[in-house]
Amino acid sequence: MPSSRPPVKQAFSVLSARMHIAATRPLAARRPAAPLFGTIRVPGDKSISHRALMFAALAVGETRISGLLEGEDVLRTAAAMRALGAEVVQDGPGRWRVAGRGVGGLVEPADVLDMGNSGTAARLLTGMLASHPFFSVLTGDASLRRRPMRRVTDPLGACGARFSSRTGGRLPLAIEGARDPLPLDYRLPVPSAQVKSALLLCGLNAPGLTRIEEPEATRDHSENMLRHFGAEVTVQVEGAGRIITLSGQPHLSAADVRVPGDPSSAAFFVIAALLVPGSRLRIEGVGLNPLRCGLFTTLREMGADLVVENARSEGGEAVGDLVVTHSPLRAVDVPADRAPSMIDEFPILAVAAACAEGVTRMAGLKELRVKESDRLTATAALLAANGVRVAIEGDDLIVRGGTPLAGGAMVKTHMDHRLAMSALVLGLVTPAPVAVDDSAFINTSFPGFVPLLNGLVQGPDPIAAP
Ligand code: S3P
Repeated sequence: MPSSRPPVKQAFSVLSARMHIAATRPLAARRPAAPLFGTIRVPGDKSISHRALMFAALAVGETRISGLLEGEDVLRTAAAMRALGAEVVQDGPGRWRVAGRGVGGLVEPADVLDMGNSGTAARLLTGMLASHPFFSVLTGDASLRRRPMRRVTDPLGACGARFSSRTGGRLPLAIEGARDPLPLDYRLPVPSAQVKSALLLCGLNAPGLTRIEEPEATRDHSENMLRHFGAEVTVQVEGAGRIITLSGQPHLSAADVRVPGDPSSAAFFVIAALLVPGSRLRIEGVGLNPLRCGLFTTLREMGADLVVENARSEGGEAVGDLVVTHSPLRAVDVPADRAPSMIDEFPILAVAAACAEGVTRMAGLKELRVKESDRLTATAALLAANGVRVAIEGDDLIVRGGTPLAGGAMVKTHMDHRLAMSALVLGLVTPAPVAVDDSAFINTSFPGFVPLLNGLVQGPDPIAAP
């Protein structure tokens, strides 16, 4: 392990020190002096990283994980798995080992579990804890404490767990896990992979069949990984949706996981290269699960030169190298039924739409209102502050592209990493620089974003202190 990398204990204490200091870090992006050019990798997939740690903690034996995202969100999950009795060790950059406790084998944590900014960690963990017979309490930062938890606690109550929370089902949340958990049978009212995964994690420690119906398909990393660890999962496609069945109380066996690059992180570089004239980037080893690829489909419809090379499958997940070349973009209508496959990519797509010829309509974005921030309102505000004509109609976002982009604003990022990165990418093409009030939250999903971007440009750093 290189001496500059903190071992895991230090990584956790750096994290908690940061929590208490909570310093804001403004940054600004300006037009680069040269195109973006090079070959890069982006950090590991956030969804898969959380799941790898959680499923490994429930498996018997030692799982080795490579390519794990070492962002703050995932470090929270690593810390929670340790608090629940799994042995979690960092061997080197992105390389971790987890000695699991077997299904149903977690132990009562000695303290409150603080999930920081991470909705995925909080929701999935709630599902896991609901079917373990002990008491636990979850909390998070100010953004996470505003986010809805009833979407998981309501259905999880049917397994026999009991929950108490703040008004509106907000964190902190106290969980009294079921002694004799019952299997669940539930139809998702909102398309949410977090809710689906929470119910599957709960169902692991209940006898019999857990059955989940999703009217619209959402990312299936949990289903893929459950199979990888030896669980019996069936998936029946029903029109646009799916019925997922899990056989409870399986024997999960340790199974090594190689985490692909996160397509949601690659998205910022793909769009930066499309927008900055003369750019060409190769992004290697990106996860290309079909239920995550709505952005790439949309960009191709907009005229993007975006090619996948070396398409392959790793541990049940599609992976490939993306080659992206600067392209003029035209506006499109993004249908509502595509939203689940690109739910995290709308802020950065909105930036691309602002630079495209014509009016882009992104339909059915209700779920954006309950992300790390109200991303629908905040994305519109980000663009409007920089001179883009933008409107929200119901749950649709409408962006008039090609209007003279001004830039020059200080964007409010509301503790939301994706808003911060989207604003900084916008600043690469506006006449005046675009600043963000706080870049600190970028570390939740994409540590190293700023140096990676600056490293692609010959000349002065495009992203620097304002
Ligand atoms: C995630 C699911 C999505 C996504 C989030 C990660 C997951 O949330 O926005 O960043 O890992 O399951 P929802 O399930 O709330 O749509």
